[in-house]
Amino acid sequence: MFGDCFEFLYSLNQKFMPLNDSNKKFGQVWSCNEWDPLEEIIVGTVENAVVPVWSPAVASTTPTHAKWFFEKHGGQPFPDEMIEKASIELNGLVKVLEDLDITVHRPKPLDFNTEYKTPWWESKGLYSAMPRDVLLVIGDTIIEASMAWRTRYFEVFAYRDMIEEYFREGARWLPAPKSTMADDFYNPNYDPATPEIDGVRQFVISEKEVSFDAADFTRCGKDIFVQKSNVTNAMGIEWVRRHIGSEYKVHEVEFGDQHPMHIDTTIVPLAPGKLMINPSWVERSQLPSMFDSWEIIEAPEPVNPFDSALYFSSDWLTMNFLSVDEKRIIVEENEAPLIDLLKKKGFEPIPIPFRNFYPFGGSIHCATTDVRRNGGLESYF
Ligand code: NVA
Repeated sequence: MFGDCFEFLYSLNQKFMPLNDSNKKFGQVWSCNEWDPLEEIIVGTVENAVVPVWSPAVASTTPTHAKWFFEKHGGQPFPDEMIEKASIELNGLVKVLEDLDITVHRPKPLDFNTEYKTPWWESKGLYSAMPRDVLLVIGDTIIEASMAWRTRYFEVFAYRDMIEEYFREGARWLPAPKSTMADDFYNPNYDPATPEIDGVRQFVISEKEVSFDAADFTRCGKDIFVQKSNVTNAMGIEWVRRHIGSEYKVHEVEFGDQHPMHIDTTIVPLAPGKLMINPSWVERSQLPSMFDSWEIIEAPEPVNPFDSALYFSSDWLTMNFLSVDEKRIIVEENEAPLIDLLKKKGFEPIPIPFRNFYPFGGSIHCATTDVRRNGGLESYF
């Protein structure tokens, strides 16, 4: 009996074991784009993940077909089966990265199921599955995003131990101002059914305070592209622009995603002079003219038809892949047309199973933050 119990606990420990990475060294922070040879990376975890309660902020970007999931599970841990399946895939990703000699660190998940209280509201947490949303690495600087969901207010603390290690190794560390996320930070008139009024895109967050998620930015060396979204406002973009220094140019872009939140299924830089776009949201004419000399590659339709298990996102997670270098790209194994297209264009896709992570709201790019890539700070335009 005792033995069975031990076996069970041991197997649980095995499942989550990679989180204990105390013997792994933290290196220099240095990442300027999405494609230089990858050397060190953070991979998220779904351990302790909690489903948010349906709210205007969640509703602003979440497919309406998924509302039932939040109504059924909101405020409770994600179902065990979902956690188990996604954990296996995350551990598989870690193995692939380590086999490529890339150093991997994992966050220490918080107890996201604990209710916390600020002077303005109460909430539970979400997860530490998506470091891409929370941490923006620009050159030698780690920026902690301010975030816009109450469930994500304290999420950065899952990464604080490792940020401190990076700081000790010489990184610059820039925590953005946190907004209050009080009721008057959100736009009371926002209705996801009318995301555009008189040709002007509407958002659930206001301009009252600084707000941004890291995943609304994408990096091409000295040029950084960002979209306003339901989590990123003009003040947040301006805050980043002023703080990263005059050697960088931050370009604001707007495309056809009517409920934008995170740019990494909209435009994805692949290599110098090569950009993948989501053809259902991006017209070539909407790209800044600086891309005129770039090869623009349209992503193929996602393989999996509209799937009700995509609770937080569109099915364009197809494009949410991770470049190991200018050629090799880690992609979800079911996305056969994408894999074929990448091969045709001279890339070397590395397919891995990752579909069970999708219901948490992202794919391989979301689940990671590249901390070090080997390459200089350059202009590609
Ligand atoms: N909100 C975007 C990005 C998700 C990573 C989407 O749903 O495709």
